Amino acid sequence: MALKSGNVAPDETELLELVRTQPAPQHVAVIMDGNGRWATRRGLPRVAGHSEGVKAARTIVRAADALGIRYLTLYAFSSENWSRPSDEVSMLMSLLERSIHRELPELMARNVRLRVIGRAEGVPHEVKRGIDNVMDETAGNTGMTLFMAFNYGGRDELVDACRALARQVQAGELRPDDIDDGRIARALYTGGAPDPDLLIRTSGEMRISNFLLWQIAYTELWVTPVLWPDFGTHDLYRAIVEYQRRERRFGGV
Ligand code: FPP
Repeated sequence: MALKSGNVAPDETELLELVRTQPAPQHVAVIMDGNGRWATRRGLPRVAGHSEGVKAARTIVRAADALGIRYLTLYAFSSENWSRPSDEVSMLMSLLERSIHRELPELMARNVRLRVIGRAEGVPHEVKRGIDNVMDETAGNTGMTLFMAFNYGGRDELVDACRALARQVQAGELRPDDIDDGRIARALYTGGAPDPDLLIRTSGEMRISNFLLWQIAYTELWVTPVLWPDFGTHDLYRAIVEYQRRERRFGGV
């Protein structure tokens, strides 16, 4: 598709048309950063930024589903986020649990399967019960898989995978020499899903922040200064167009 002008940034419709000229990435992962700054800049409490962040997440789930993206992974709460002030932590917990619960009808209508990835330890009982309920309800859905990383740490995930494999070796079900890339990948929380093709990080930080450490070995990175509550479909399309322009070599030439 030809753009109207070489000098003018394409608008959302043009971007969407561009995206649709090539296959969508199979798996997109997002580090949703900048909720706190978004709120602080407006003189609002940080939690107001998280509430807006939920709206942005809903927009991106809908857009990703409409584009035919098969897997979307959102980093909602890291294992390091426990060090935040306790009122922010408890508000985030209940906000995430309420949001997941509220989205259940739409997840069902869209045939989206929710899989929450991360450690269960430390998550309040009622939050865990709410999350488990939505995971159970959507388990049979065959459309997009939405991985929500919650109490998630990439190193924790690798530790847990090592422990699971070690237990299999100890039980005599697996020989150490049979442990290879594929087995490790299957032992991760995301086991069975392809690695992300594209990782988006908002709010400009050039860090991975302990996210999907194994899975992003060859993932294309796209960092935008846009703060998460301001991130919309236009930004998602821009990231995908940029990704589609890149030549992925997977270490080859
Ligand atoms: C980062 O902002 C964002 C988080 C800690 C994750 C919380 C995300 C949401 C509430 C939106 C997604 C919700 C769902 C249901 C998927 P920050 O507080 O680190 O921002 P800062 O770096 O500006 O302080």
